Amino acid sequence: MRGSERQSGSDLLTSEVASQIAEHEKFGGVVPEVASRNHLAQLPRLLERAIASANVTINEIDAFAATSGPGLASSLLVGNSAAKGLAIGAGKPFLAINHLEGHLLSPFFGSKKIEPNIGLVVSGGHTLLVNVRGVGNYEILGRTLDDAAGEAFDKVAKLLGLGYPGGPEIEMRAQKGDAKKFELPRSMLNSGDLNFSFSGLKTAVRYLLEKPSVIPKREDAEGPRKRREDIREVPRSARDDNSVDDLCASFQQAVIDVLREKSLRALQQTKSRRLTLSGGVSCNSALRENLRATCQENKIEFLVAEPWLCTDNAAMIAFAAMLRFENGIVSSLEAEIDPNLALA
Ligand code: KG4
Ligand code: ZN
Repeated sequence: MRGSERQSGSDLLTSEVASQIAEHEKFGGVVPEVASRNHLAQLPRLLERAIASANVTINEIDAFAATSGPGLASSLLVGNSAAKGLAIGAGKPFLAINHLEGHLLSPFFGSKKIEPNIGLVVSGGHTLLVNVRGVGNYEILGRTLDDAAGEAFDKVAKLLGLGYPGGPEIEMRAQKGDAKKFELPRSMLNSGDLNFSFSGLKTAVRYLLEKPSVIPKREDAEGPRKRREDIREVPRSARDDNSVDDLCASFQQAVIDVLREKSLRALQQTKSRRLTLSGGVSCNSALRENLRATCQENKIEFLVAEPWLCTDNAAMIAFAAMLRFENGIVSSLEAEIDPNLALA
């Protein structure tokens, strides 16, 4: 990333991502050991590719950054050790970046300045409403009390026998479904605060699946189910396609409705006129369009990053690091990783 002090804002020189989705798909989720081993194996190659495609030398880089949390300790350690080693070798500063800050600032990617906003961060591990006053000045207004929004997508997809990660699979099926077909709960809408809960929604889906009359098995699906557990994770081919599409659409709409209502309340409470959306779930076009339309109706500015910047990537971490660096903030080389690092 090249600095934002220039007229045009900041520039991305290169972005390299080594996706591990294919590795984790086999297990239906992230296996920490597999993840850290892949980090270690991929990092030298990624670094070489990034340096070559950015057309810079290590000595031309002003600062090195890595995610220091929240996340899996064994993977965080790999990135941190590499970035600290590079910083020491090149005699340049190191910046420890909060993964959630990377998401939170990504809707401003490339611009010179972070305008105050209400940030809705929806990822696989977090659901947060944040009052953003500037770089490093955050107040958490609400968070999930149980499952994160992305986690709910992943778990429901698993119940339906769809692939991993669940979000894109559910979005695809939802496009063909009827969102009014199944009545699902909008949890905590009347809780009087800005917190979320998605585990009840997931349980409601599970109960529906346990009633064979609601989501019939396909006539050509094999043999009867013997055990109760078999009902929970039936292979994709075993369920009636139209019903699955309808259930995906109904589930997705329930998530969107809650995210929209709580975001509107956060905007009202803080009298903010700007909403930003980030995190892996913000790839979801139904969510993006719903929030865009709601903001337009309410004369609120709406910002969301391009989809490639919504799921985990190094560019958003570099952008957050660059903004911090330009504000004179750097980290100690003694800064430890923290799997539970808080945003504020
Ligand atoms: O931010 P992210 O890449 O990783 C974390 O920090 O957790 O988010 C991953 C999450 C997964 O739960 C995935 O299912 C969800 O984002 N996701 C989506 C979509 N694309 C990814 N959820 C709904 N619709 C999508 N299109
Ligand atoms: Zn993330």
